[in-house]
Amino acid sequence: MNILITGASGQLGLALRKELHEHEIIGVDLPDHDISDKNVVDELMAEHKPDLLINSAAYTNVDGCAKDPELAYKANALGPQNLALACLQNGTPMVQVSTNEVYAGNNPAGYEEWMPYSPINPYGKSKAAGEFNVRSILPQHYIVRTAWLYASTGRNFIHAIMNRAKDTGKVSVVTDEIGNPTWAKDLAAAISQLVETGRYGTYHFVNSGSCSRWEFANEILKLAGIEAENAPILSSAFKRASTPPPYGVLHNINGAQAGIVLRPWQEALAEFISEM
Ligand SMILES: NC(=O)c1ccc[n+]([C@@H]2O[C@H](COP(=O)([O-])OP(=O)(O)OC[C@H]3O[C@@H](n4cnc5c(N)ncnc54)[C@H](OP(=O)(O)O)[C@@H]3O)[C@@H](O)[C@H]2O)c1
Repeated sequence: MNILITGASGQLGLALRKELHEHEIIGVDLPDHDISDKNVVDELMAEHKPDLLINSAAYTNVDGCAKDPELAYKANALGPQNLALACLQNGTPMVQVSTNEVYAGNNPAGYEEWMPYSPINPYGKSKAAGEFNVRSILPQHYIVRTAWLYASTGRNFIHAIMNRAKDTGKVSVVTDEIGNPTWAKDLAAAISQLVETGRYGTYHFVNSGSCSRWEFANEILKLAGIEAENAPILSSAFKRASTPPPYGVLHNINGAQAGIVLRPWQEALAEFISEM
């Protein structure tokens, strides 16, 4: 297959390039390929005529999205719209990667794929708009929601915790934000399986199980062998521009029916840290 990957230098983009190396991959990213520019997208699609498009490009800085919602909507809603329109014209199926932040996080039972979105911050709103655009335009779509993504490159929670703990011997982490830590490598493997099925629809691909940010930090420090205090705090004590969903736990129901299940988050994290 000839696969076009947008956002190819990001955490997931790099993992996808590795996972799908047996295919012919065209990887593009900023600054040359801005998906919010329709001409750029149309030229890309006309030049490469891919058999599959995977959109892993997004403006993922959630606090940045809160400060500049217009930029968030351009990358996360207009970009996917441009891509879906070009895919429709070319007869190309598309994977749109989305987030647990399309949910308010006020359901203690967590979220299955069929549940309507209810975002509470500009990042989540822009990503929900991106999903809506892809669903409305292109029948051949896979919407893949994920959460708390990490990889060896990029800005993520694991690097932030390890750096802070090493520099200061102490971290303060919230106990009232719950989610599913997910390794980009495992997500890329799940997407690779999914696109072979032709089962279009919406999927929740996260490493299984859930935890609070504080528990996640504890496990990181333990596995990395870093001696540091991990002080539990409430999110009300941690001021930031964006409000994350407090209980943004995703359940993988549709993927499991297709035989695609990601391993428990603790196992993935242990392997990730041992490889660091
Ligand atoms: N990271 C998470 O915790 C998380 C959680 C849930 C869902 N997701 C979703 O998973 C997907 C992959 O996330 P990730 O962690 O791999 O993100 P990432 O590391 O931030 O990578 C995203 C890439 O997209 C690029 N990009 C931003 N705006 C663009 C535009 N207008 N046109 C083209 N490229 C653009 C970024 O370039 P710059 O670096 O130059 O901006 C970056 O290389 C995204 O859809 C994200 O919403 C992520």
